[in-house]
Amino acid sequence: MTQQELKPVVVVHGGAGGSRADDDGCVHAARRGMSEMNRGALAAATAAVVALEDDGRYNAGSGSVLCLDGATIEMDAAVMDSNGKLGAVACIQRVRNPVLVARAVADTPHWLLAGDGAERFARIAGIPPYYHASERARRKHDELLRKLAGAQAALPGVANAAFSHYWNYAAPPQFATEDGCDTVGAVARDGAGNFAAACSTGGSAPSLLGRVGDTPIIGSGFYAGKLGAVAVTGIGEHIVRRLLAHTVYQWLAEGMPMEEALEAGIALFPREIDVGIIAVNRKESGARSNKDMPRAEVSA
Ligand code: GLY
Repeated sequence: MTQQELKPVVVVHGGAGGSRADDDGCVHAARRGMSEMNRGALAAATAAVVALEDDGRYNAGSGSVLCLDGATIEMDAAVMDSNGKLGAVACIQRVRNPVLVARAVADTPHWLLAGDGAERFARIAGIPPYYHASERARRKHDELLRKLAGAQAALPGVANAAFSHYWNYAAPPQFATEDGCDTVGAVARDGAGNFAAACSTGGSAPSLLGRVGDTPIIGSGFYAGKLGAVAVTGIGEHIVRRLLAHTVYQWLAEGMPMEEALEAGIALFPREIDVGIIAVNRKESGARSNKDMPRAEVSA
């Protein structure tokens, strides 16, 4: 390593509100990312998120939650690096790795594609159709319907009746009137001092059809710039109102120590709102959450 070179690192998370028993999948993902580090920070962060999407235990890719109709899977993903690469997809269906579609979008004239257009673009980019409703997703869907039929709010702060009141699925609701809202993410620093963030989610449950959270929204779910990269997890409706990823990036850019910036980001939210943050800058890296959050960090 020459004097100018930095120590490469990949930090990943498997979603705030997850289980630390799933840290092993994050370790695997961080190692996958590190194995791509010779192609730069963006390739490393993207590869790490592909591994998390393929794991099946996290709410992304093959592990994505089912929408309230018990069949539709809508996913969001994004990538960004410190050289201006930026791509995202929202409400995409029938792909195995939304983060790879987001990476392909970053090579087009646009930064964000949504819905049918995003899926059609995936086919043009050579990404084949894929649909997988996991056993875990089906189990969680059944639990969710039971919760929605009960008195306790399935989504903190939202009356269960709101979902039947604003119902926008083709078939009628299967409940009389919370589950996961997690995300996966990775941030990376390469030896040349480039930074990247990548993230992916199966979205929030419960939610209306077409709902988009923070994950594909620049500055909310992710941010990367010349001074670092940040990826966040939690309930999108709360995160977007605080532009959480850019807020933490800005604090780091102004010289706030990593631990302090991560703590300050978490402190923006009441305890009952799940939130987690991973970040990297030239000197430091870290992860914080207010709930259990599977995570791992691998450096060269
Ligand atoms: N953070 C994932 C979501 O709200 O969609």
